[in-house]
Formats: sequence, structure tokens, C-alpha cells
Amino acid sequence: MGHLAPRVKTERPQNEFMDDSGERRGRIARRLRRQADACSILGSPLYAQLLEAAAVDVLGGGPAWDVLQGRDMDDAGSALALRFMGGVHRLVLEGKAPELAEHYPSAGGRPAQEAPRVFLETVERLADKIRGSLDRPVQTNEVGRAAGLVGGFLTVAQRTGLPLRILEIGASAGLLLRWDRYRYEARGATWGPADSPVRLCSFNSEDPLPFEVGAEVAERAGCDTDPVDAATDEGALTLLSYVWPDQLARIRNLRSALAVARRDPVAIERANAADWLEERVQQAVPGLATVVYHSIVLQYLSDADFERVGSAITDAGSAATGNAPIAWLRMEPGGEEAHVRLTMWPEGGERLVATCSYHGASVRWLGYG
Ligand SMILES: C[S@@+](CC[C@H](N)C(=O)[O-])C[C@H]1O[C@@H](n2cnc3c(N)ncnc32)[C@H](O)[C@@H]1O
Repeated sequence: MGHLAPRVKTERPQNEFMDDSGERRGRIARRLRRQADACSILGSPLYAQLLEAAAVDVLGGGPAWDVLQGRDMDDAGSALALRFMGGVHRLVLEGKAPELAEHYPSAGGRPAQEAPRVFLETVERLADKIRGSLDRPVQTNEVGRAAGLVGGFLTVAQRTGLPLRILEIGASAGLLLRWDRYRYEARGATWGPADSPVRLCSFNSEDPLPFEVGAEVAERAGCDTDPVDAATDEGALTLLSYVWPDQLARIRNLRSALAVARRDPVAIERANAADWLEERVQQAVPGLATVVYHSIVLQYLSDADFERVGSAITDAGSAATGNAPIAWLRMEPGGEEAHVRLTMWPEGGERLVATCSYHGASVRWLGYG
């Protein structure tokens, strides 16, 4: 009896703790595995492998669990797994994890079989720093999406014959506000400055894009609730840390677009999309075609802001004239692919003008008709 009593006493609380902890571990492991699957489909075998190792480690109560515990109830849209991986990638890019850098192509390394072990050792060694970076939101500004949008901008220029006034909501670092500074190449046709360091060639269309059209951007402005300053080292590091380290084409494009941004600064206002747009879009500018645009932003807006953004654009659209037209260009989720839609006022209406991958690859131009 004597030796049984303490065991009975401690067993119940221990089981309760184990059950609760087991559930929490399970929830985090599922989030990591969902992201691993997405990375595998979207062409990052390195992250797929590391996230799977992290999921196993969380279930076993290892260093990844040590860093991620307490985060199982974080908002589902906050991309916990990518905040975690971005925090580790930042340390690699800063030179603070040289052993792991040997497995990260973004730092000149090559993934090898022992990458998951080295990853978990790094997580253990730099746990405090990684824990701190979980409070940062995922910040991506995907240059490749300019390839999905370019046909829309050119269509507006072609159909209105006017210079453009472009207004971007959820602009992040504003890299898509410089879409006209990039070079596009599709089946022998090209558009944009031949000496641009950014080259976007990921077109997969039967229909030719309207690359014969010239377009002048007369005014450009953007807003974001959490803008990144593309002209600073800190801004560049933030953006690079959230690109998957074995996706070298995206990294190359991002580095090149950052060089363009340093040469050609555009201030991004820290503002909520609905407030910012309501103020600007009603003030049509005669002689300019206003294009309101966004990519992968609507899902982040509150229901009220979503309504307000839609109303601000359609109200401005109904007041548009031939000399002050309005266009709404957007690349937003359309299932397995992103859908690019264009609506024009006073004439034109809405069309699905292109489809592409979420990062702007494999653009299929459908045209405005
Ligand atoms: C997935 S990122 C896309 C960034 C950029 N449009 C691109 O395609 O590369 C979403 C952006 O929307 C911004 N955002 C989220 N809610 C917002 C809001 N209510 N108003 C303005 N920007 C917002 C975020 O800060 C983030 O920069």
C-alpha cells in the first residue's frame, strides 16, 4: 500500500497533463504537416522535409515543440508554420546558423540527408530568437505576380488610350507598384525595359498578351497596414526570410526587384485599405485612367472592410467618365489557381482575363475580349 499511494496520487494529474499536452502537440503537428503538403505541391521539397521533421519532433516533445508550445490556438490564417520557418530562415540569412546554411540554397548551400537533424539542432540552439520571431506576421511581396497583372494594366492602357494612375491596396513593400520597370518575355514577344534586372518569362498562353501596347504610369501610390521598406536592409531581410529557401528563381526575382526599388523609391502609406481607398478613388483625375488593384489581399480584410473596398470601387466606377475612367484589377484565389479579373468603367464590364499559380507562374492569358 505504502508504495502504491504516491503513484495513485501522481497518476491522475500526470495523465491529465499528458492528454492536454498531447492534444496541443497534435494540433501544432497538423498545422506543420498541412504546410509540408502545401510546400511539396508548390515546389519546395526542402520545406516539405523540414516541416515533416518538425511535426514528428513536436509530437515527441523535442526542440520544435519547445519553441511552438502555446501557439496551438493562434489564428488559423496567421500561418504559424511559415512564421516559424521564416524565423529560422532569417537567422540563416543573417549568418547566425552556419551549419544549417549549408543546407539552404538561399545561402549557397545544398540540401542533404542530414538537413532535418541540423534544422532541429539549430532550433534547439537558437530557441529564444526563433520564439521571438513568431510574433512577426508573414510578409511576402511576390514579384512574380506582376506577370499575372501585366496584361490587365496593358488592356486598360490600350482601351482608354490614357496614362495610368495606379492605386494598390495591401502593397507590402510596393514591388508590384513597379510592374512597368520589369521585363516580360512570352513566346518571342516582350514588354518592358530590356535592361531591367527583373525578367518574368512564366507565360503559358495560347492567346498572345497585348505586348504591342505602350503604357505610361503617371502616378503610383500604395497602402498596407504593415508596410515593408524595400529600400532598407531590414526590409530586404524580412521579405527574403519568408521566401522558401530552395525556390531560387523567386529569390533571384526578389533580389532584383529590391535593387529596382532602391533606385526608384515609392512610399507605401501605413493605412487600412478601406480608409485609404475611400479617400482616393472618389477623386477621379481627368486625363488619367485610375487602376485600383490588389493581389492575395481580400482574405485578410475584415467583412466590413471587404464590403467598403468593393463599394468604394463600384461607386467610383458608376461616376467614371471616358476622360476619367476607372478599372479594378485583382489577382485573388480561384481554387487551385489564382484568378485575375478586370472590371472597367464607364465601359467594358467584368472579365476573367488570366489564370496563374499563386506566385504568378504559368500565366494563361485569356484576354478582355
Ligand atoms: C499576402 S500579402 C500580399 C502582398 C502583395 N499584394 C503581393 O501580392 O505580393 C497581403 C498583404 O495585405 C496586407 N493587409 C492585410 N490586411 C490589410 C488591410 N486591412 N489593409 C491594407 N493592407 C492589408 C498585409 O500587411 C500584407 O502585406
